[in-house]
Amino acid sequence: MIHRFLRTSYWAQDIPRGVVVKCIRNSLCFAAFYGQKQIGFARVITDRATFAYLADVFVLPGHRGRGVARLMISKILAHRDMQGLRRILLATKDAHGLYTPFGFMPPIHPEHFLTIALPEVYRKKARAKTKQQSAP
Ligand SMILES: CC(C)(COP(=O)(O)OP(=O)(O)OC[C@H]1O[C@@H](n2cnc3c(N)ncnc32)[C@H](O)[C@@H]1OP(=O)(O)O)[C@@H](O)C(=O)NCCC(=O)NCCS
Repeated sequence: MIHRFLRTSYWAQDIPRGVVVKCIRNSLCFAAFYGQKQIGFARVITDRATFAYLADVFVLPGHRGRGVARLMISKILAHRDMQGLRRILLATKDAHGLYTPFGFMPPIHPEHFLTIALPEVYRKKARAKTKQQSAP
């Protein structure tokens, strides 16, 4: 379910299943359940001492607008490994309204942050694989 959602997300399009398995294994993961059914997911990449990066936050479409994401974020921030950190970072295109009540804000000095961003990384790999498979 996590892979099915993430591979169509705007931030991890075409992410291979193996990469999702590996990132789950190496992250602090959180899930939301409605009865037996998983309806939400989020993960934190962290050293559990100074820094954390909140990633892959989602709630399945039929369950949105009922406070599920807000509950996940509050549980994440209350987790024992999230205490006393110097910085918690996240990136979002449009869900700022979810995070600002928890104290997240745009960086005061965005020019102090640098990134290597390869948004096409999985799509290129997927295209190359398809090409390879269709080659004679
Ligand atoms: C963003 C997402 C996780 C929110 O989940 P949700 O369970 O519907 O959110 P909640 O019901 O807990 O909303 C809590 C608050 O956040 C706000 N919020 C939720 N999604 C928002 C969005 N996209 N933009 C702005 N505010 C948003 C809500 O308005 C609500 O505040 P309110 O009660 O004052 O109105 C969900 O819409 C989703 O999975 N979207 C697709 C994936 C995505 O964009 N993930 C975010 C990547 S950072």
